[in-house]
This record gives sequence, C-alpha cells and structure tokens, in this order.
Amino acid sequence: MTKLITILNGPNLNLLGQRQPEVYGHATLDDVATTCAAVAAEVGLTSQLLQSNHEGQIIDWIHEARLKAAGIIINPAAFTHTSVAILDALNAYDGPVLEVHISNVHKREAFRHKSYVSLRADGVIAGFGVDGYALAMRRMGSLLAD
Ligand code: DQA
Repeated sequence: MTKLITILNGPNLNLLGQRQPEVYGHATLDDVATTCAAVAAEVGLTSQLLQSNHEGQIIDWIHEARLKAAGIIINPAAFTHTSVAILDALNAYDGPVLEVHISNVHKREAFRHKSYVSLRADGVIAGFGVDGYALAMRRMGSLLAD
C-alpha cells in the first residue's frame, strides 16, 4: 500500500489566498492540496491535507497519524509559537515530521522566532511561500524511500 503523508494546517490557514496576500500570497489551501497530491504521486506517496482552527483537533489528527501516516508535514500557524500540547503530540509520533511556514518567520516579529514544533521537527522550511509544502513533500519522498 502507498504510504500516506498527513499535511496539517493550523488556525487562519483556511483563509489562505484572502488573508494578508502580501505576506502569504494568492494561492489557496485547495491549491496547496492539489500541488502536494501531484508531488506525492511523483515520489510514490499519497497525501491528505487537513486544516483546523482548533488546537485539540490538530492534536487528535496527530494521534490518528500514529496509526495511518508514514510522515507528517505541519504548518501549525500561530500554534507554532505557543503550543506545548502540539509538541507533546508530535513527540508521541514516530515517523518524520517536517515543519513548513509560508512566510519567513525569522524576518518577522520576535514572537514568531520561537517554535515549539522545531524541537521535534526533522526539517524546517520557512519563507518559500506555498512552494515550501511541495519541497517538504519531495523531502518526504527521500526520507521514506525504501
Ligand atoms: C505561518 C507563520 C505564523 O507565525 C503565523 O501565525 C501563521 C502562518 C506561516 O506559514 O508563515 O499563521 O505559520
């Protein structure tokens, strides 16, 4: 069976394409899902993209990924900078975890420079726009190649 990559997205990313396009661009989360599915197919994987504005829902999805996903790509959005609970959930997950930020968080406000998720992530991509998701999916292809 083809390995599944779960792509998790945190709060406000449902508004991608409408929200601060000068920071996050014009592509929508549906566009990201389509691109990721195409790249996943190229590297022999499948993908499922999920988004929630609720921390507990993201934690539940990480728990589900323990049973069904070979890897997690996560843009925790604002929870990146606040959520010990998401870090703990990721620490209970065994596969590779790649963290993606559309904007270059290091060029922005100081509170965005701290990431709890980076304490677990095997790789971090920031500032490549939505291309960061496709790059992370390619990296998953290498990490999970048999
Ligand atoms: C973000 C950066 C976060 O600081 C912010 O809260 C977001 C999106 C990014 O993709 O650049 O919502 O994770």
